[in-house]
Amino acid sequence: MPVSTTPAPASLIATLPGRYYTDPEIFRKEQEKLFESMWFCAVRSADLSGPGAFRTVRVGRESIVITRSRSGELRAFLNVCRHRGARLCTEESGQVRRSLQCPYHAWTYDLDGKLIAAPNLIKMPDVDRVAYGLIKVALREWLGYAWVCLADEPPSFEDTVMYAAVERLGDAAAIEHYGTENLALGKRITYEVKANWKLIVENFMECYHCATIHPELTAVLPEFAKGYAAQYYVGHGAEFGERIQGFTVDGSAGFGKLAEVSAEQDRRYYAITVKPTVFVNLVPDHVILHRMFPLAEDRTSVECDWLYAPEVVASGADVSKSVELFHRVNVQDFAACERTQPAMSSRAYRSGGVLVPSEHHIGIFHEWLLGRLGDARA
Ligand code: FES
Ligand code: FE
Repeated sequence: MPVSTTPAPASLIATLPGRYYTDPEIFRKEQEKLFESMWFCAVRSADLSGPGAFRTVRVGRESIVITRSRSGELRAFLNVCRHRGARLCTEESGQVRRSLQCPYHAWTYDLDGKLIAAPNLIKMPDVDRVAYGLIKVALREWLGYAWVCLADEPPSFEDTVMYAAVERLGDAAAIEHYGTENLALGKRITYEVKANWKLIVENFMECYHCATIHPELTAVLPEFAKGYAAQYYVGHGAEFGERIQGFTVDGSAGFGKLAEVSAEQDRRYYAITVKPTVFVNLVPDHVILHRMFPLAEDRTSVECDWLYAPEVVASGADVSKSVELFHRVNVQDFAACERTQPAMSSRAYRSGGVLVPSEHHIGIFHEWLLGRLGDARA
């Protein structure tokens, strides 16, 4: 394969080599160094509506079970029975009365993880029921979601997760104005994307593609048609077009702005990437939150929630016009990612592609990733 010896023009900087999107060994390292080491957004808190509700979720190579305890708090555990290791909960979600029972030999744990019953347990008085309880996983709630961390010593939640919003919006209070934790779910769509999770992140971080593939979005946010990168300018939100009434598929009116949204946040769209797997989209009358679940080097499940003021959802108002706008954006973006994935293993992409100036900030993401994986730039 001839390799060009011409020096690269300063306008273009290199992407990651193709193998970062196709190599199972690199994906395994990402599971270890990212998804199992950082805070990972697992479930929406309100999906666990009352005591005894549980959800299982895959984080890196582990299965986690998240329960709502009798006191109403969320708890996370490794989904592994302490006896002989059977998977405790096999359903994605469910409801128990007061305990989780292993289907193998019936070891039974309360909703705080303590071992409370097992056949013949009475004859084993030396068994410490807390020590042989389920193994706890760190959990924090923010924006109405439960974030879990498998690390023995989790990194600071404030300095990592919450800081992403401060860094992007330029102000710690700005995201609070949307009151995301109090919003209600208007719609959830899950997308199974045949692409590496990083292609989805990179796509979200640039708007060079907006004019080509997002006609509805650029009609609402005309500055996106110029390839402006929402992630790039601290504190800047993309302004709605003059004739646009709301963040909807046809620019028609949405709902009243959320109570605390400021005058300068009104009629603007802000996007935040919370590394490694979350995107938060803020518009005056709703919040759209994407959670990615990387399943393999070439497969990612994306759960997208549209969140509105509780009274909007309770009234049965039709949210379909605002859902449709970002649903189309998602479909357009994920199709682009799926179109890119097969080429990642082509010899044409062996040493990667290039980033144009309005995409150069993606290089910061790449450096961050290489740093976490302990890889040197080739
Ligand atoms: Fe769970 Fe035996 S493996 S009770
Ligand atoms: Fe896009």
